[in-house]
Amino acid sequence: MTESKRKFYITTPVYYVNGVPHIGHTYATLVADVMARYHRQKGDETYFLTGTDENAQKNVESAKKEGKPIQEYVNDLSSTWRETWLELGFSFDRFIRTTSTEHKNASVEFFNKVYETGDIYLGEYEGLYCVGCESFKTETELTDDGKCPDHKKKPDTIKEQNYFFKLTKYRDRLLEYIEKHPEFIQPEKRRNEVVSYIKDFMTDVSISRQSMDWGITLPIDDKHKMYVWFDALLNYFSGIGYGQDEIKFNKFWPADVQIVGKEIIKFHCAMWPAMLMSAGYELPRTIFAHGHFTIDGQKISKSLGNAINPLDLTEEYPFDAVRYFLLREITFGDDGDFSITRLKERYNSDLANDLGNLVQRALNMIGQYCDGVVDKNTDFDKAFDINVVHARIEKFEFGQALEEIWKGVSWANKHIEDNKPWELNKSGERKKLEEVLSRVYSVLTDISNALTPFMPETAERLEKFLSAEQLAPPSEPLFPRKQ
Ligand code: MSP
Repeated sequence: MTESKRKFYITTPVYYVNGVPHIGHTYATLVADVMARYHRQKGDETYFLTGTDENAQKNVESAKKEGKPIQEYVNDLSSTWRETWLELGFSFDRFIRTTSTEHKNASVEFFNKVYETGDIYLGEYEGLYCVGCESFKTETELTDDGKCPDHKKKPDTIKEQNYFFKLTKYRDRLLEYIEKHPEFIQPEKRRNEVVSYIKDFMTDVSISRQSMDWGITLPIDDKHKMYVWFDALLNYFSGIGYGQDEIKFNKFWPADVQIVGKEIIKFHCAMWPAMLMSAGYELPRTIFAHGHFTIDGQKISKSLGNAINPLDLTEEYPFDAVRYFLLREITFGDDGDFSITRLKERYNSDLANDLGNLVQRALNMIGQYCDGVVDKNTDFDKAFDINVVHARIEKFEFGQALEEIWKGVSWANKHIEDNKPWELNKSGERKKLEEVLSRVYSVLTDISNALTPFMPETAERLEKFLSAEQLAPPSEPLFPRKQ
């Protein structure tokens, strides 16, 4: 942690409120939370933005199904999302709602900028629209029977006059930028996908709808509402005060990391940067696309109804255990299968056995053999390399970062096994006994620090046990074994 203090701005997608959060959304928010906590710990001025995408047609349809007025529906659901994130302990600095006046004003201001550039024109649109994706589809993107492969529904045919954004004008600039900035789109396989889309398939995009009465009214034509993706992307601006608080905006933009799911990279890696180029702003430093979770091989989706609510999981497991499992088990960027059986295995082996027992045993022995007092000041050789942990986090390699920390856990367990403090105590070898236990104590302190971004609650509890003047074992195990 030698680098000087910097700013760090990280975002998640804004989530549709046509249902409650599931494990997939939780994962995207979790990753942003880990990065935010890491940067705060490093001393960076950190801003973590998340929120809800409320102007979508799919929200209107869900409200109808529930028999609720749309505004009331989005208010309720947005609160549910916010409260779920709070309950899970996510450390966001701002929860942006795209129906807020602030966001609407920011979107209008940005729209006007693009309009003034001459990048918006009126045209006729006829095409297929999938409400599930909130996106137009070409025939080739559909299954043989003409359905959206993700939502298993036939798209609507839409024919109307729309305003278009001249996305194709930015084709060459986008390709050039992507080539010059390999860190811009990660992981690499997504970059390749985006490049091929921009080169071969990208067309101008319709950014207004006449047939809707929910959404942000276009400042240049009040018969039109803004296309939901155009306004949704602008949450990354409105969330840091665009058009309201220029000091804050200028401090945090460009975003350092934007976390997105792999299904929305076209919007984030082509449309969004082109919008920014058009309006004259810098592009985000990195857009990182993570993979999808399946449950028993099936895509999790609100539309398919097989979602796992993270709050249900926390009835059985502390959320830190879920955090550990997701970060350790799934390579960030790849797809992964979520299985409760695996969660339980990891919980029992890595958390209850390895870490939990270590803490219990070590503090127990320190209490019993040394009256709760150890030398806290000796600089021992390190049992794992914190610089490796940090380098892994910077590269979004959370599993490897945790593996490195667990080297410390294993080392300390082995050190106890090898040196058998209970025998040293019996034979009266005080000096050796004290040295063994203070070494273990110092590894525990390092583990607690290193765990802060990953398992904040556990790190805090550990830190509390370890900072006691007279050390004593926790009255309850950190991670009681599950049968
Ligand atoms: N509202 C848009 C995003 C606008 S951002 C300007 C949207 N919302 S969403 O709620 O459908 O999905 C948002 C994100 O949730 C995905 O990009 C992804 O990060 C996460 N996930 C949703 N389903 C997922 C899985 N099955 N697995 C993992 N994460 C997924 O798209």
